[in-house]
Amino acid sequence: MSINHTLMQRDLSVLWHPCTQMKDHEQLPIIPIKRGDGVWLEDFEGKRYLDAVSSWWVNLFGHANPRINARIKAQLDSLEHVILAGFTHEPIIELSERLVALTPEKLTRVFYADNGSSGIEVALKMSFHYWLNESERAGSKATKTKFVTLANSYHGETLAALAVGNVELYKKTYEPLLMTTFTAPSPDAYLAEPGESAESCALRAAAKMEKILAQRHEEICAVIVEPLVQCAGNMRMHHPLYLTKLRELCDRYDVHLIADEIAVGFGRTGTLFACEQARITPDFMCLSKGLTGGYLPLCAVLTTDKIYNAFYDDYASLRGFLHSHSYTGNPLACAAALATLDIFRDDNVIARNQKLIAKMQQATTHFRDHPQVADVRQTGMILAIEMVKDKRTREPYPWQERRGLRVYQHGLANGALLRPLGSVVYFMPPYVITEEQIDFLAQVAWDGIRAATRD
Ligand SMILES: Cc1ncc(COP(=O)(O)O)c(C=O)c1O
Repeated sequence: MSINHTLMQRDLSVLWHPCTQMKDHEQLPIIPIKRGDGVWLEDFEGKRYLDAVSSWWVNLFGHANPRINARIKAQLDSLEHVILAGFTHEPIIELSERLVALTPEKLTRVFYADNGSSGIEVALKMSFHYWLNESERAGSKATKTKFVTLANSYHGETLAALAVGNVELYKKTYEPLLMTTFTAPSPDAYLAEPGESAESCALRAAAKMEKILAQRHEEICAVIVEPLVQCAGNMRMHHPLYLTKLRELCDRYDVHLIADEIAVGFGRTGTLFACEQARITPDFMCLSKGLTGGYLPLCAVLTTDKIYNAFYDDYASLRGFLHSHSYTGNPLACAAALATLDIFRDDNVIARNQKLIAKMQQATTHFRDHPQVADVRQTGMILAIEMVKDKRTREPYPWQERRGLRVYQHGLANGALLRPLGSVVYFMPPYVITEEQIDFLAQVAWDGIRAATRD
């Protein structure tokens, strides 16, 4: 029996994998990975897979990146971890200074969590608690307890993060456990009326958002949004104008804006942060995934002086933010994040990526002509191809047909880790991918889509 097979058997007898119906693995192999190298993952038999999804959108500069490795190793020899209440360390101070300098102006404070969902919980709790503190100070009754979320949004799997998300597949079962929210339509440009531009579509969605805020703002703490791309919601994209309008509306109705840049931050949309394209500063910005180059779990929640000051008081006022995670601000994760920021700075990554962005577009232009492809869309380093049953009406494939899974299987057989979302095949590769490797991915995806749509 091969090592791959033995490991697979051992795995399946003790593990329960994330986001997986385990019974699928009666047919689908589990692939044990021995090592990573740049864009490649290699199994125990030497078979290689190009990581087109950056291992759940986290990896930026390749697996086993020597610069990130070296920084973590050096950190390991001096301090692996320390409690962050009452104590601090150099990597987290430097990281916080650099994040404040790099993110939109007025984001001056950084609070840490150890994964994206937990960071979302932090932003939601802080927003709610801010309004509570402010109304207490004003001697008025606190009324703001609700959040507004967008249709088709995703913010993670913990219960509050799930509550402010809207992807039915992940949410529906747990509905009885979740707080209720207001849901505004998504500005998703794929849903534009025939002949309608992405800008008009964004304005239409903003007008619907305004209705909710105008009627209910006294109950509303914050609006939460994934700027520019709803990633888990099938890589649906919208025009930056929506974010500009949303910022205006949140100001007008005195509601916070939470920008969840967990998936889109760190260059994914072509700029370092997606909010830059709308020239806005949110009240909270959540960063994770690429923050550590895809090495270690860490989430940074940035906010403003105004919000920070609402919590700053004598202990006995009980206005402090008494939230913690054991591994908050882990020094190894901070070291990985610092090495990641060094690479952005030293290698001029945002400018250099423009070539890759153009190449991804060029390599997939012909996908538009495929009879089962309704849309090829791109925002920066994210490119998505929407397979449909009927190109003219855009009728989707029934989910039960699992067309995307067929592309996944084709990808594995041909050396690429493509992990479609439903019927949407996408590329979100590490930034060290070459133009030839983009051509290779496009070829595997093309053949995979042809095989998956052949009835
Ligand atoms: C936009 C967005 N927010 C939050 C999360 C949750 O992050 P984590 O998986 O680290 O909990 C994700 C994860 O995919 C995400 O895409």
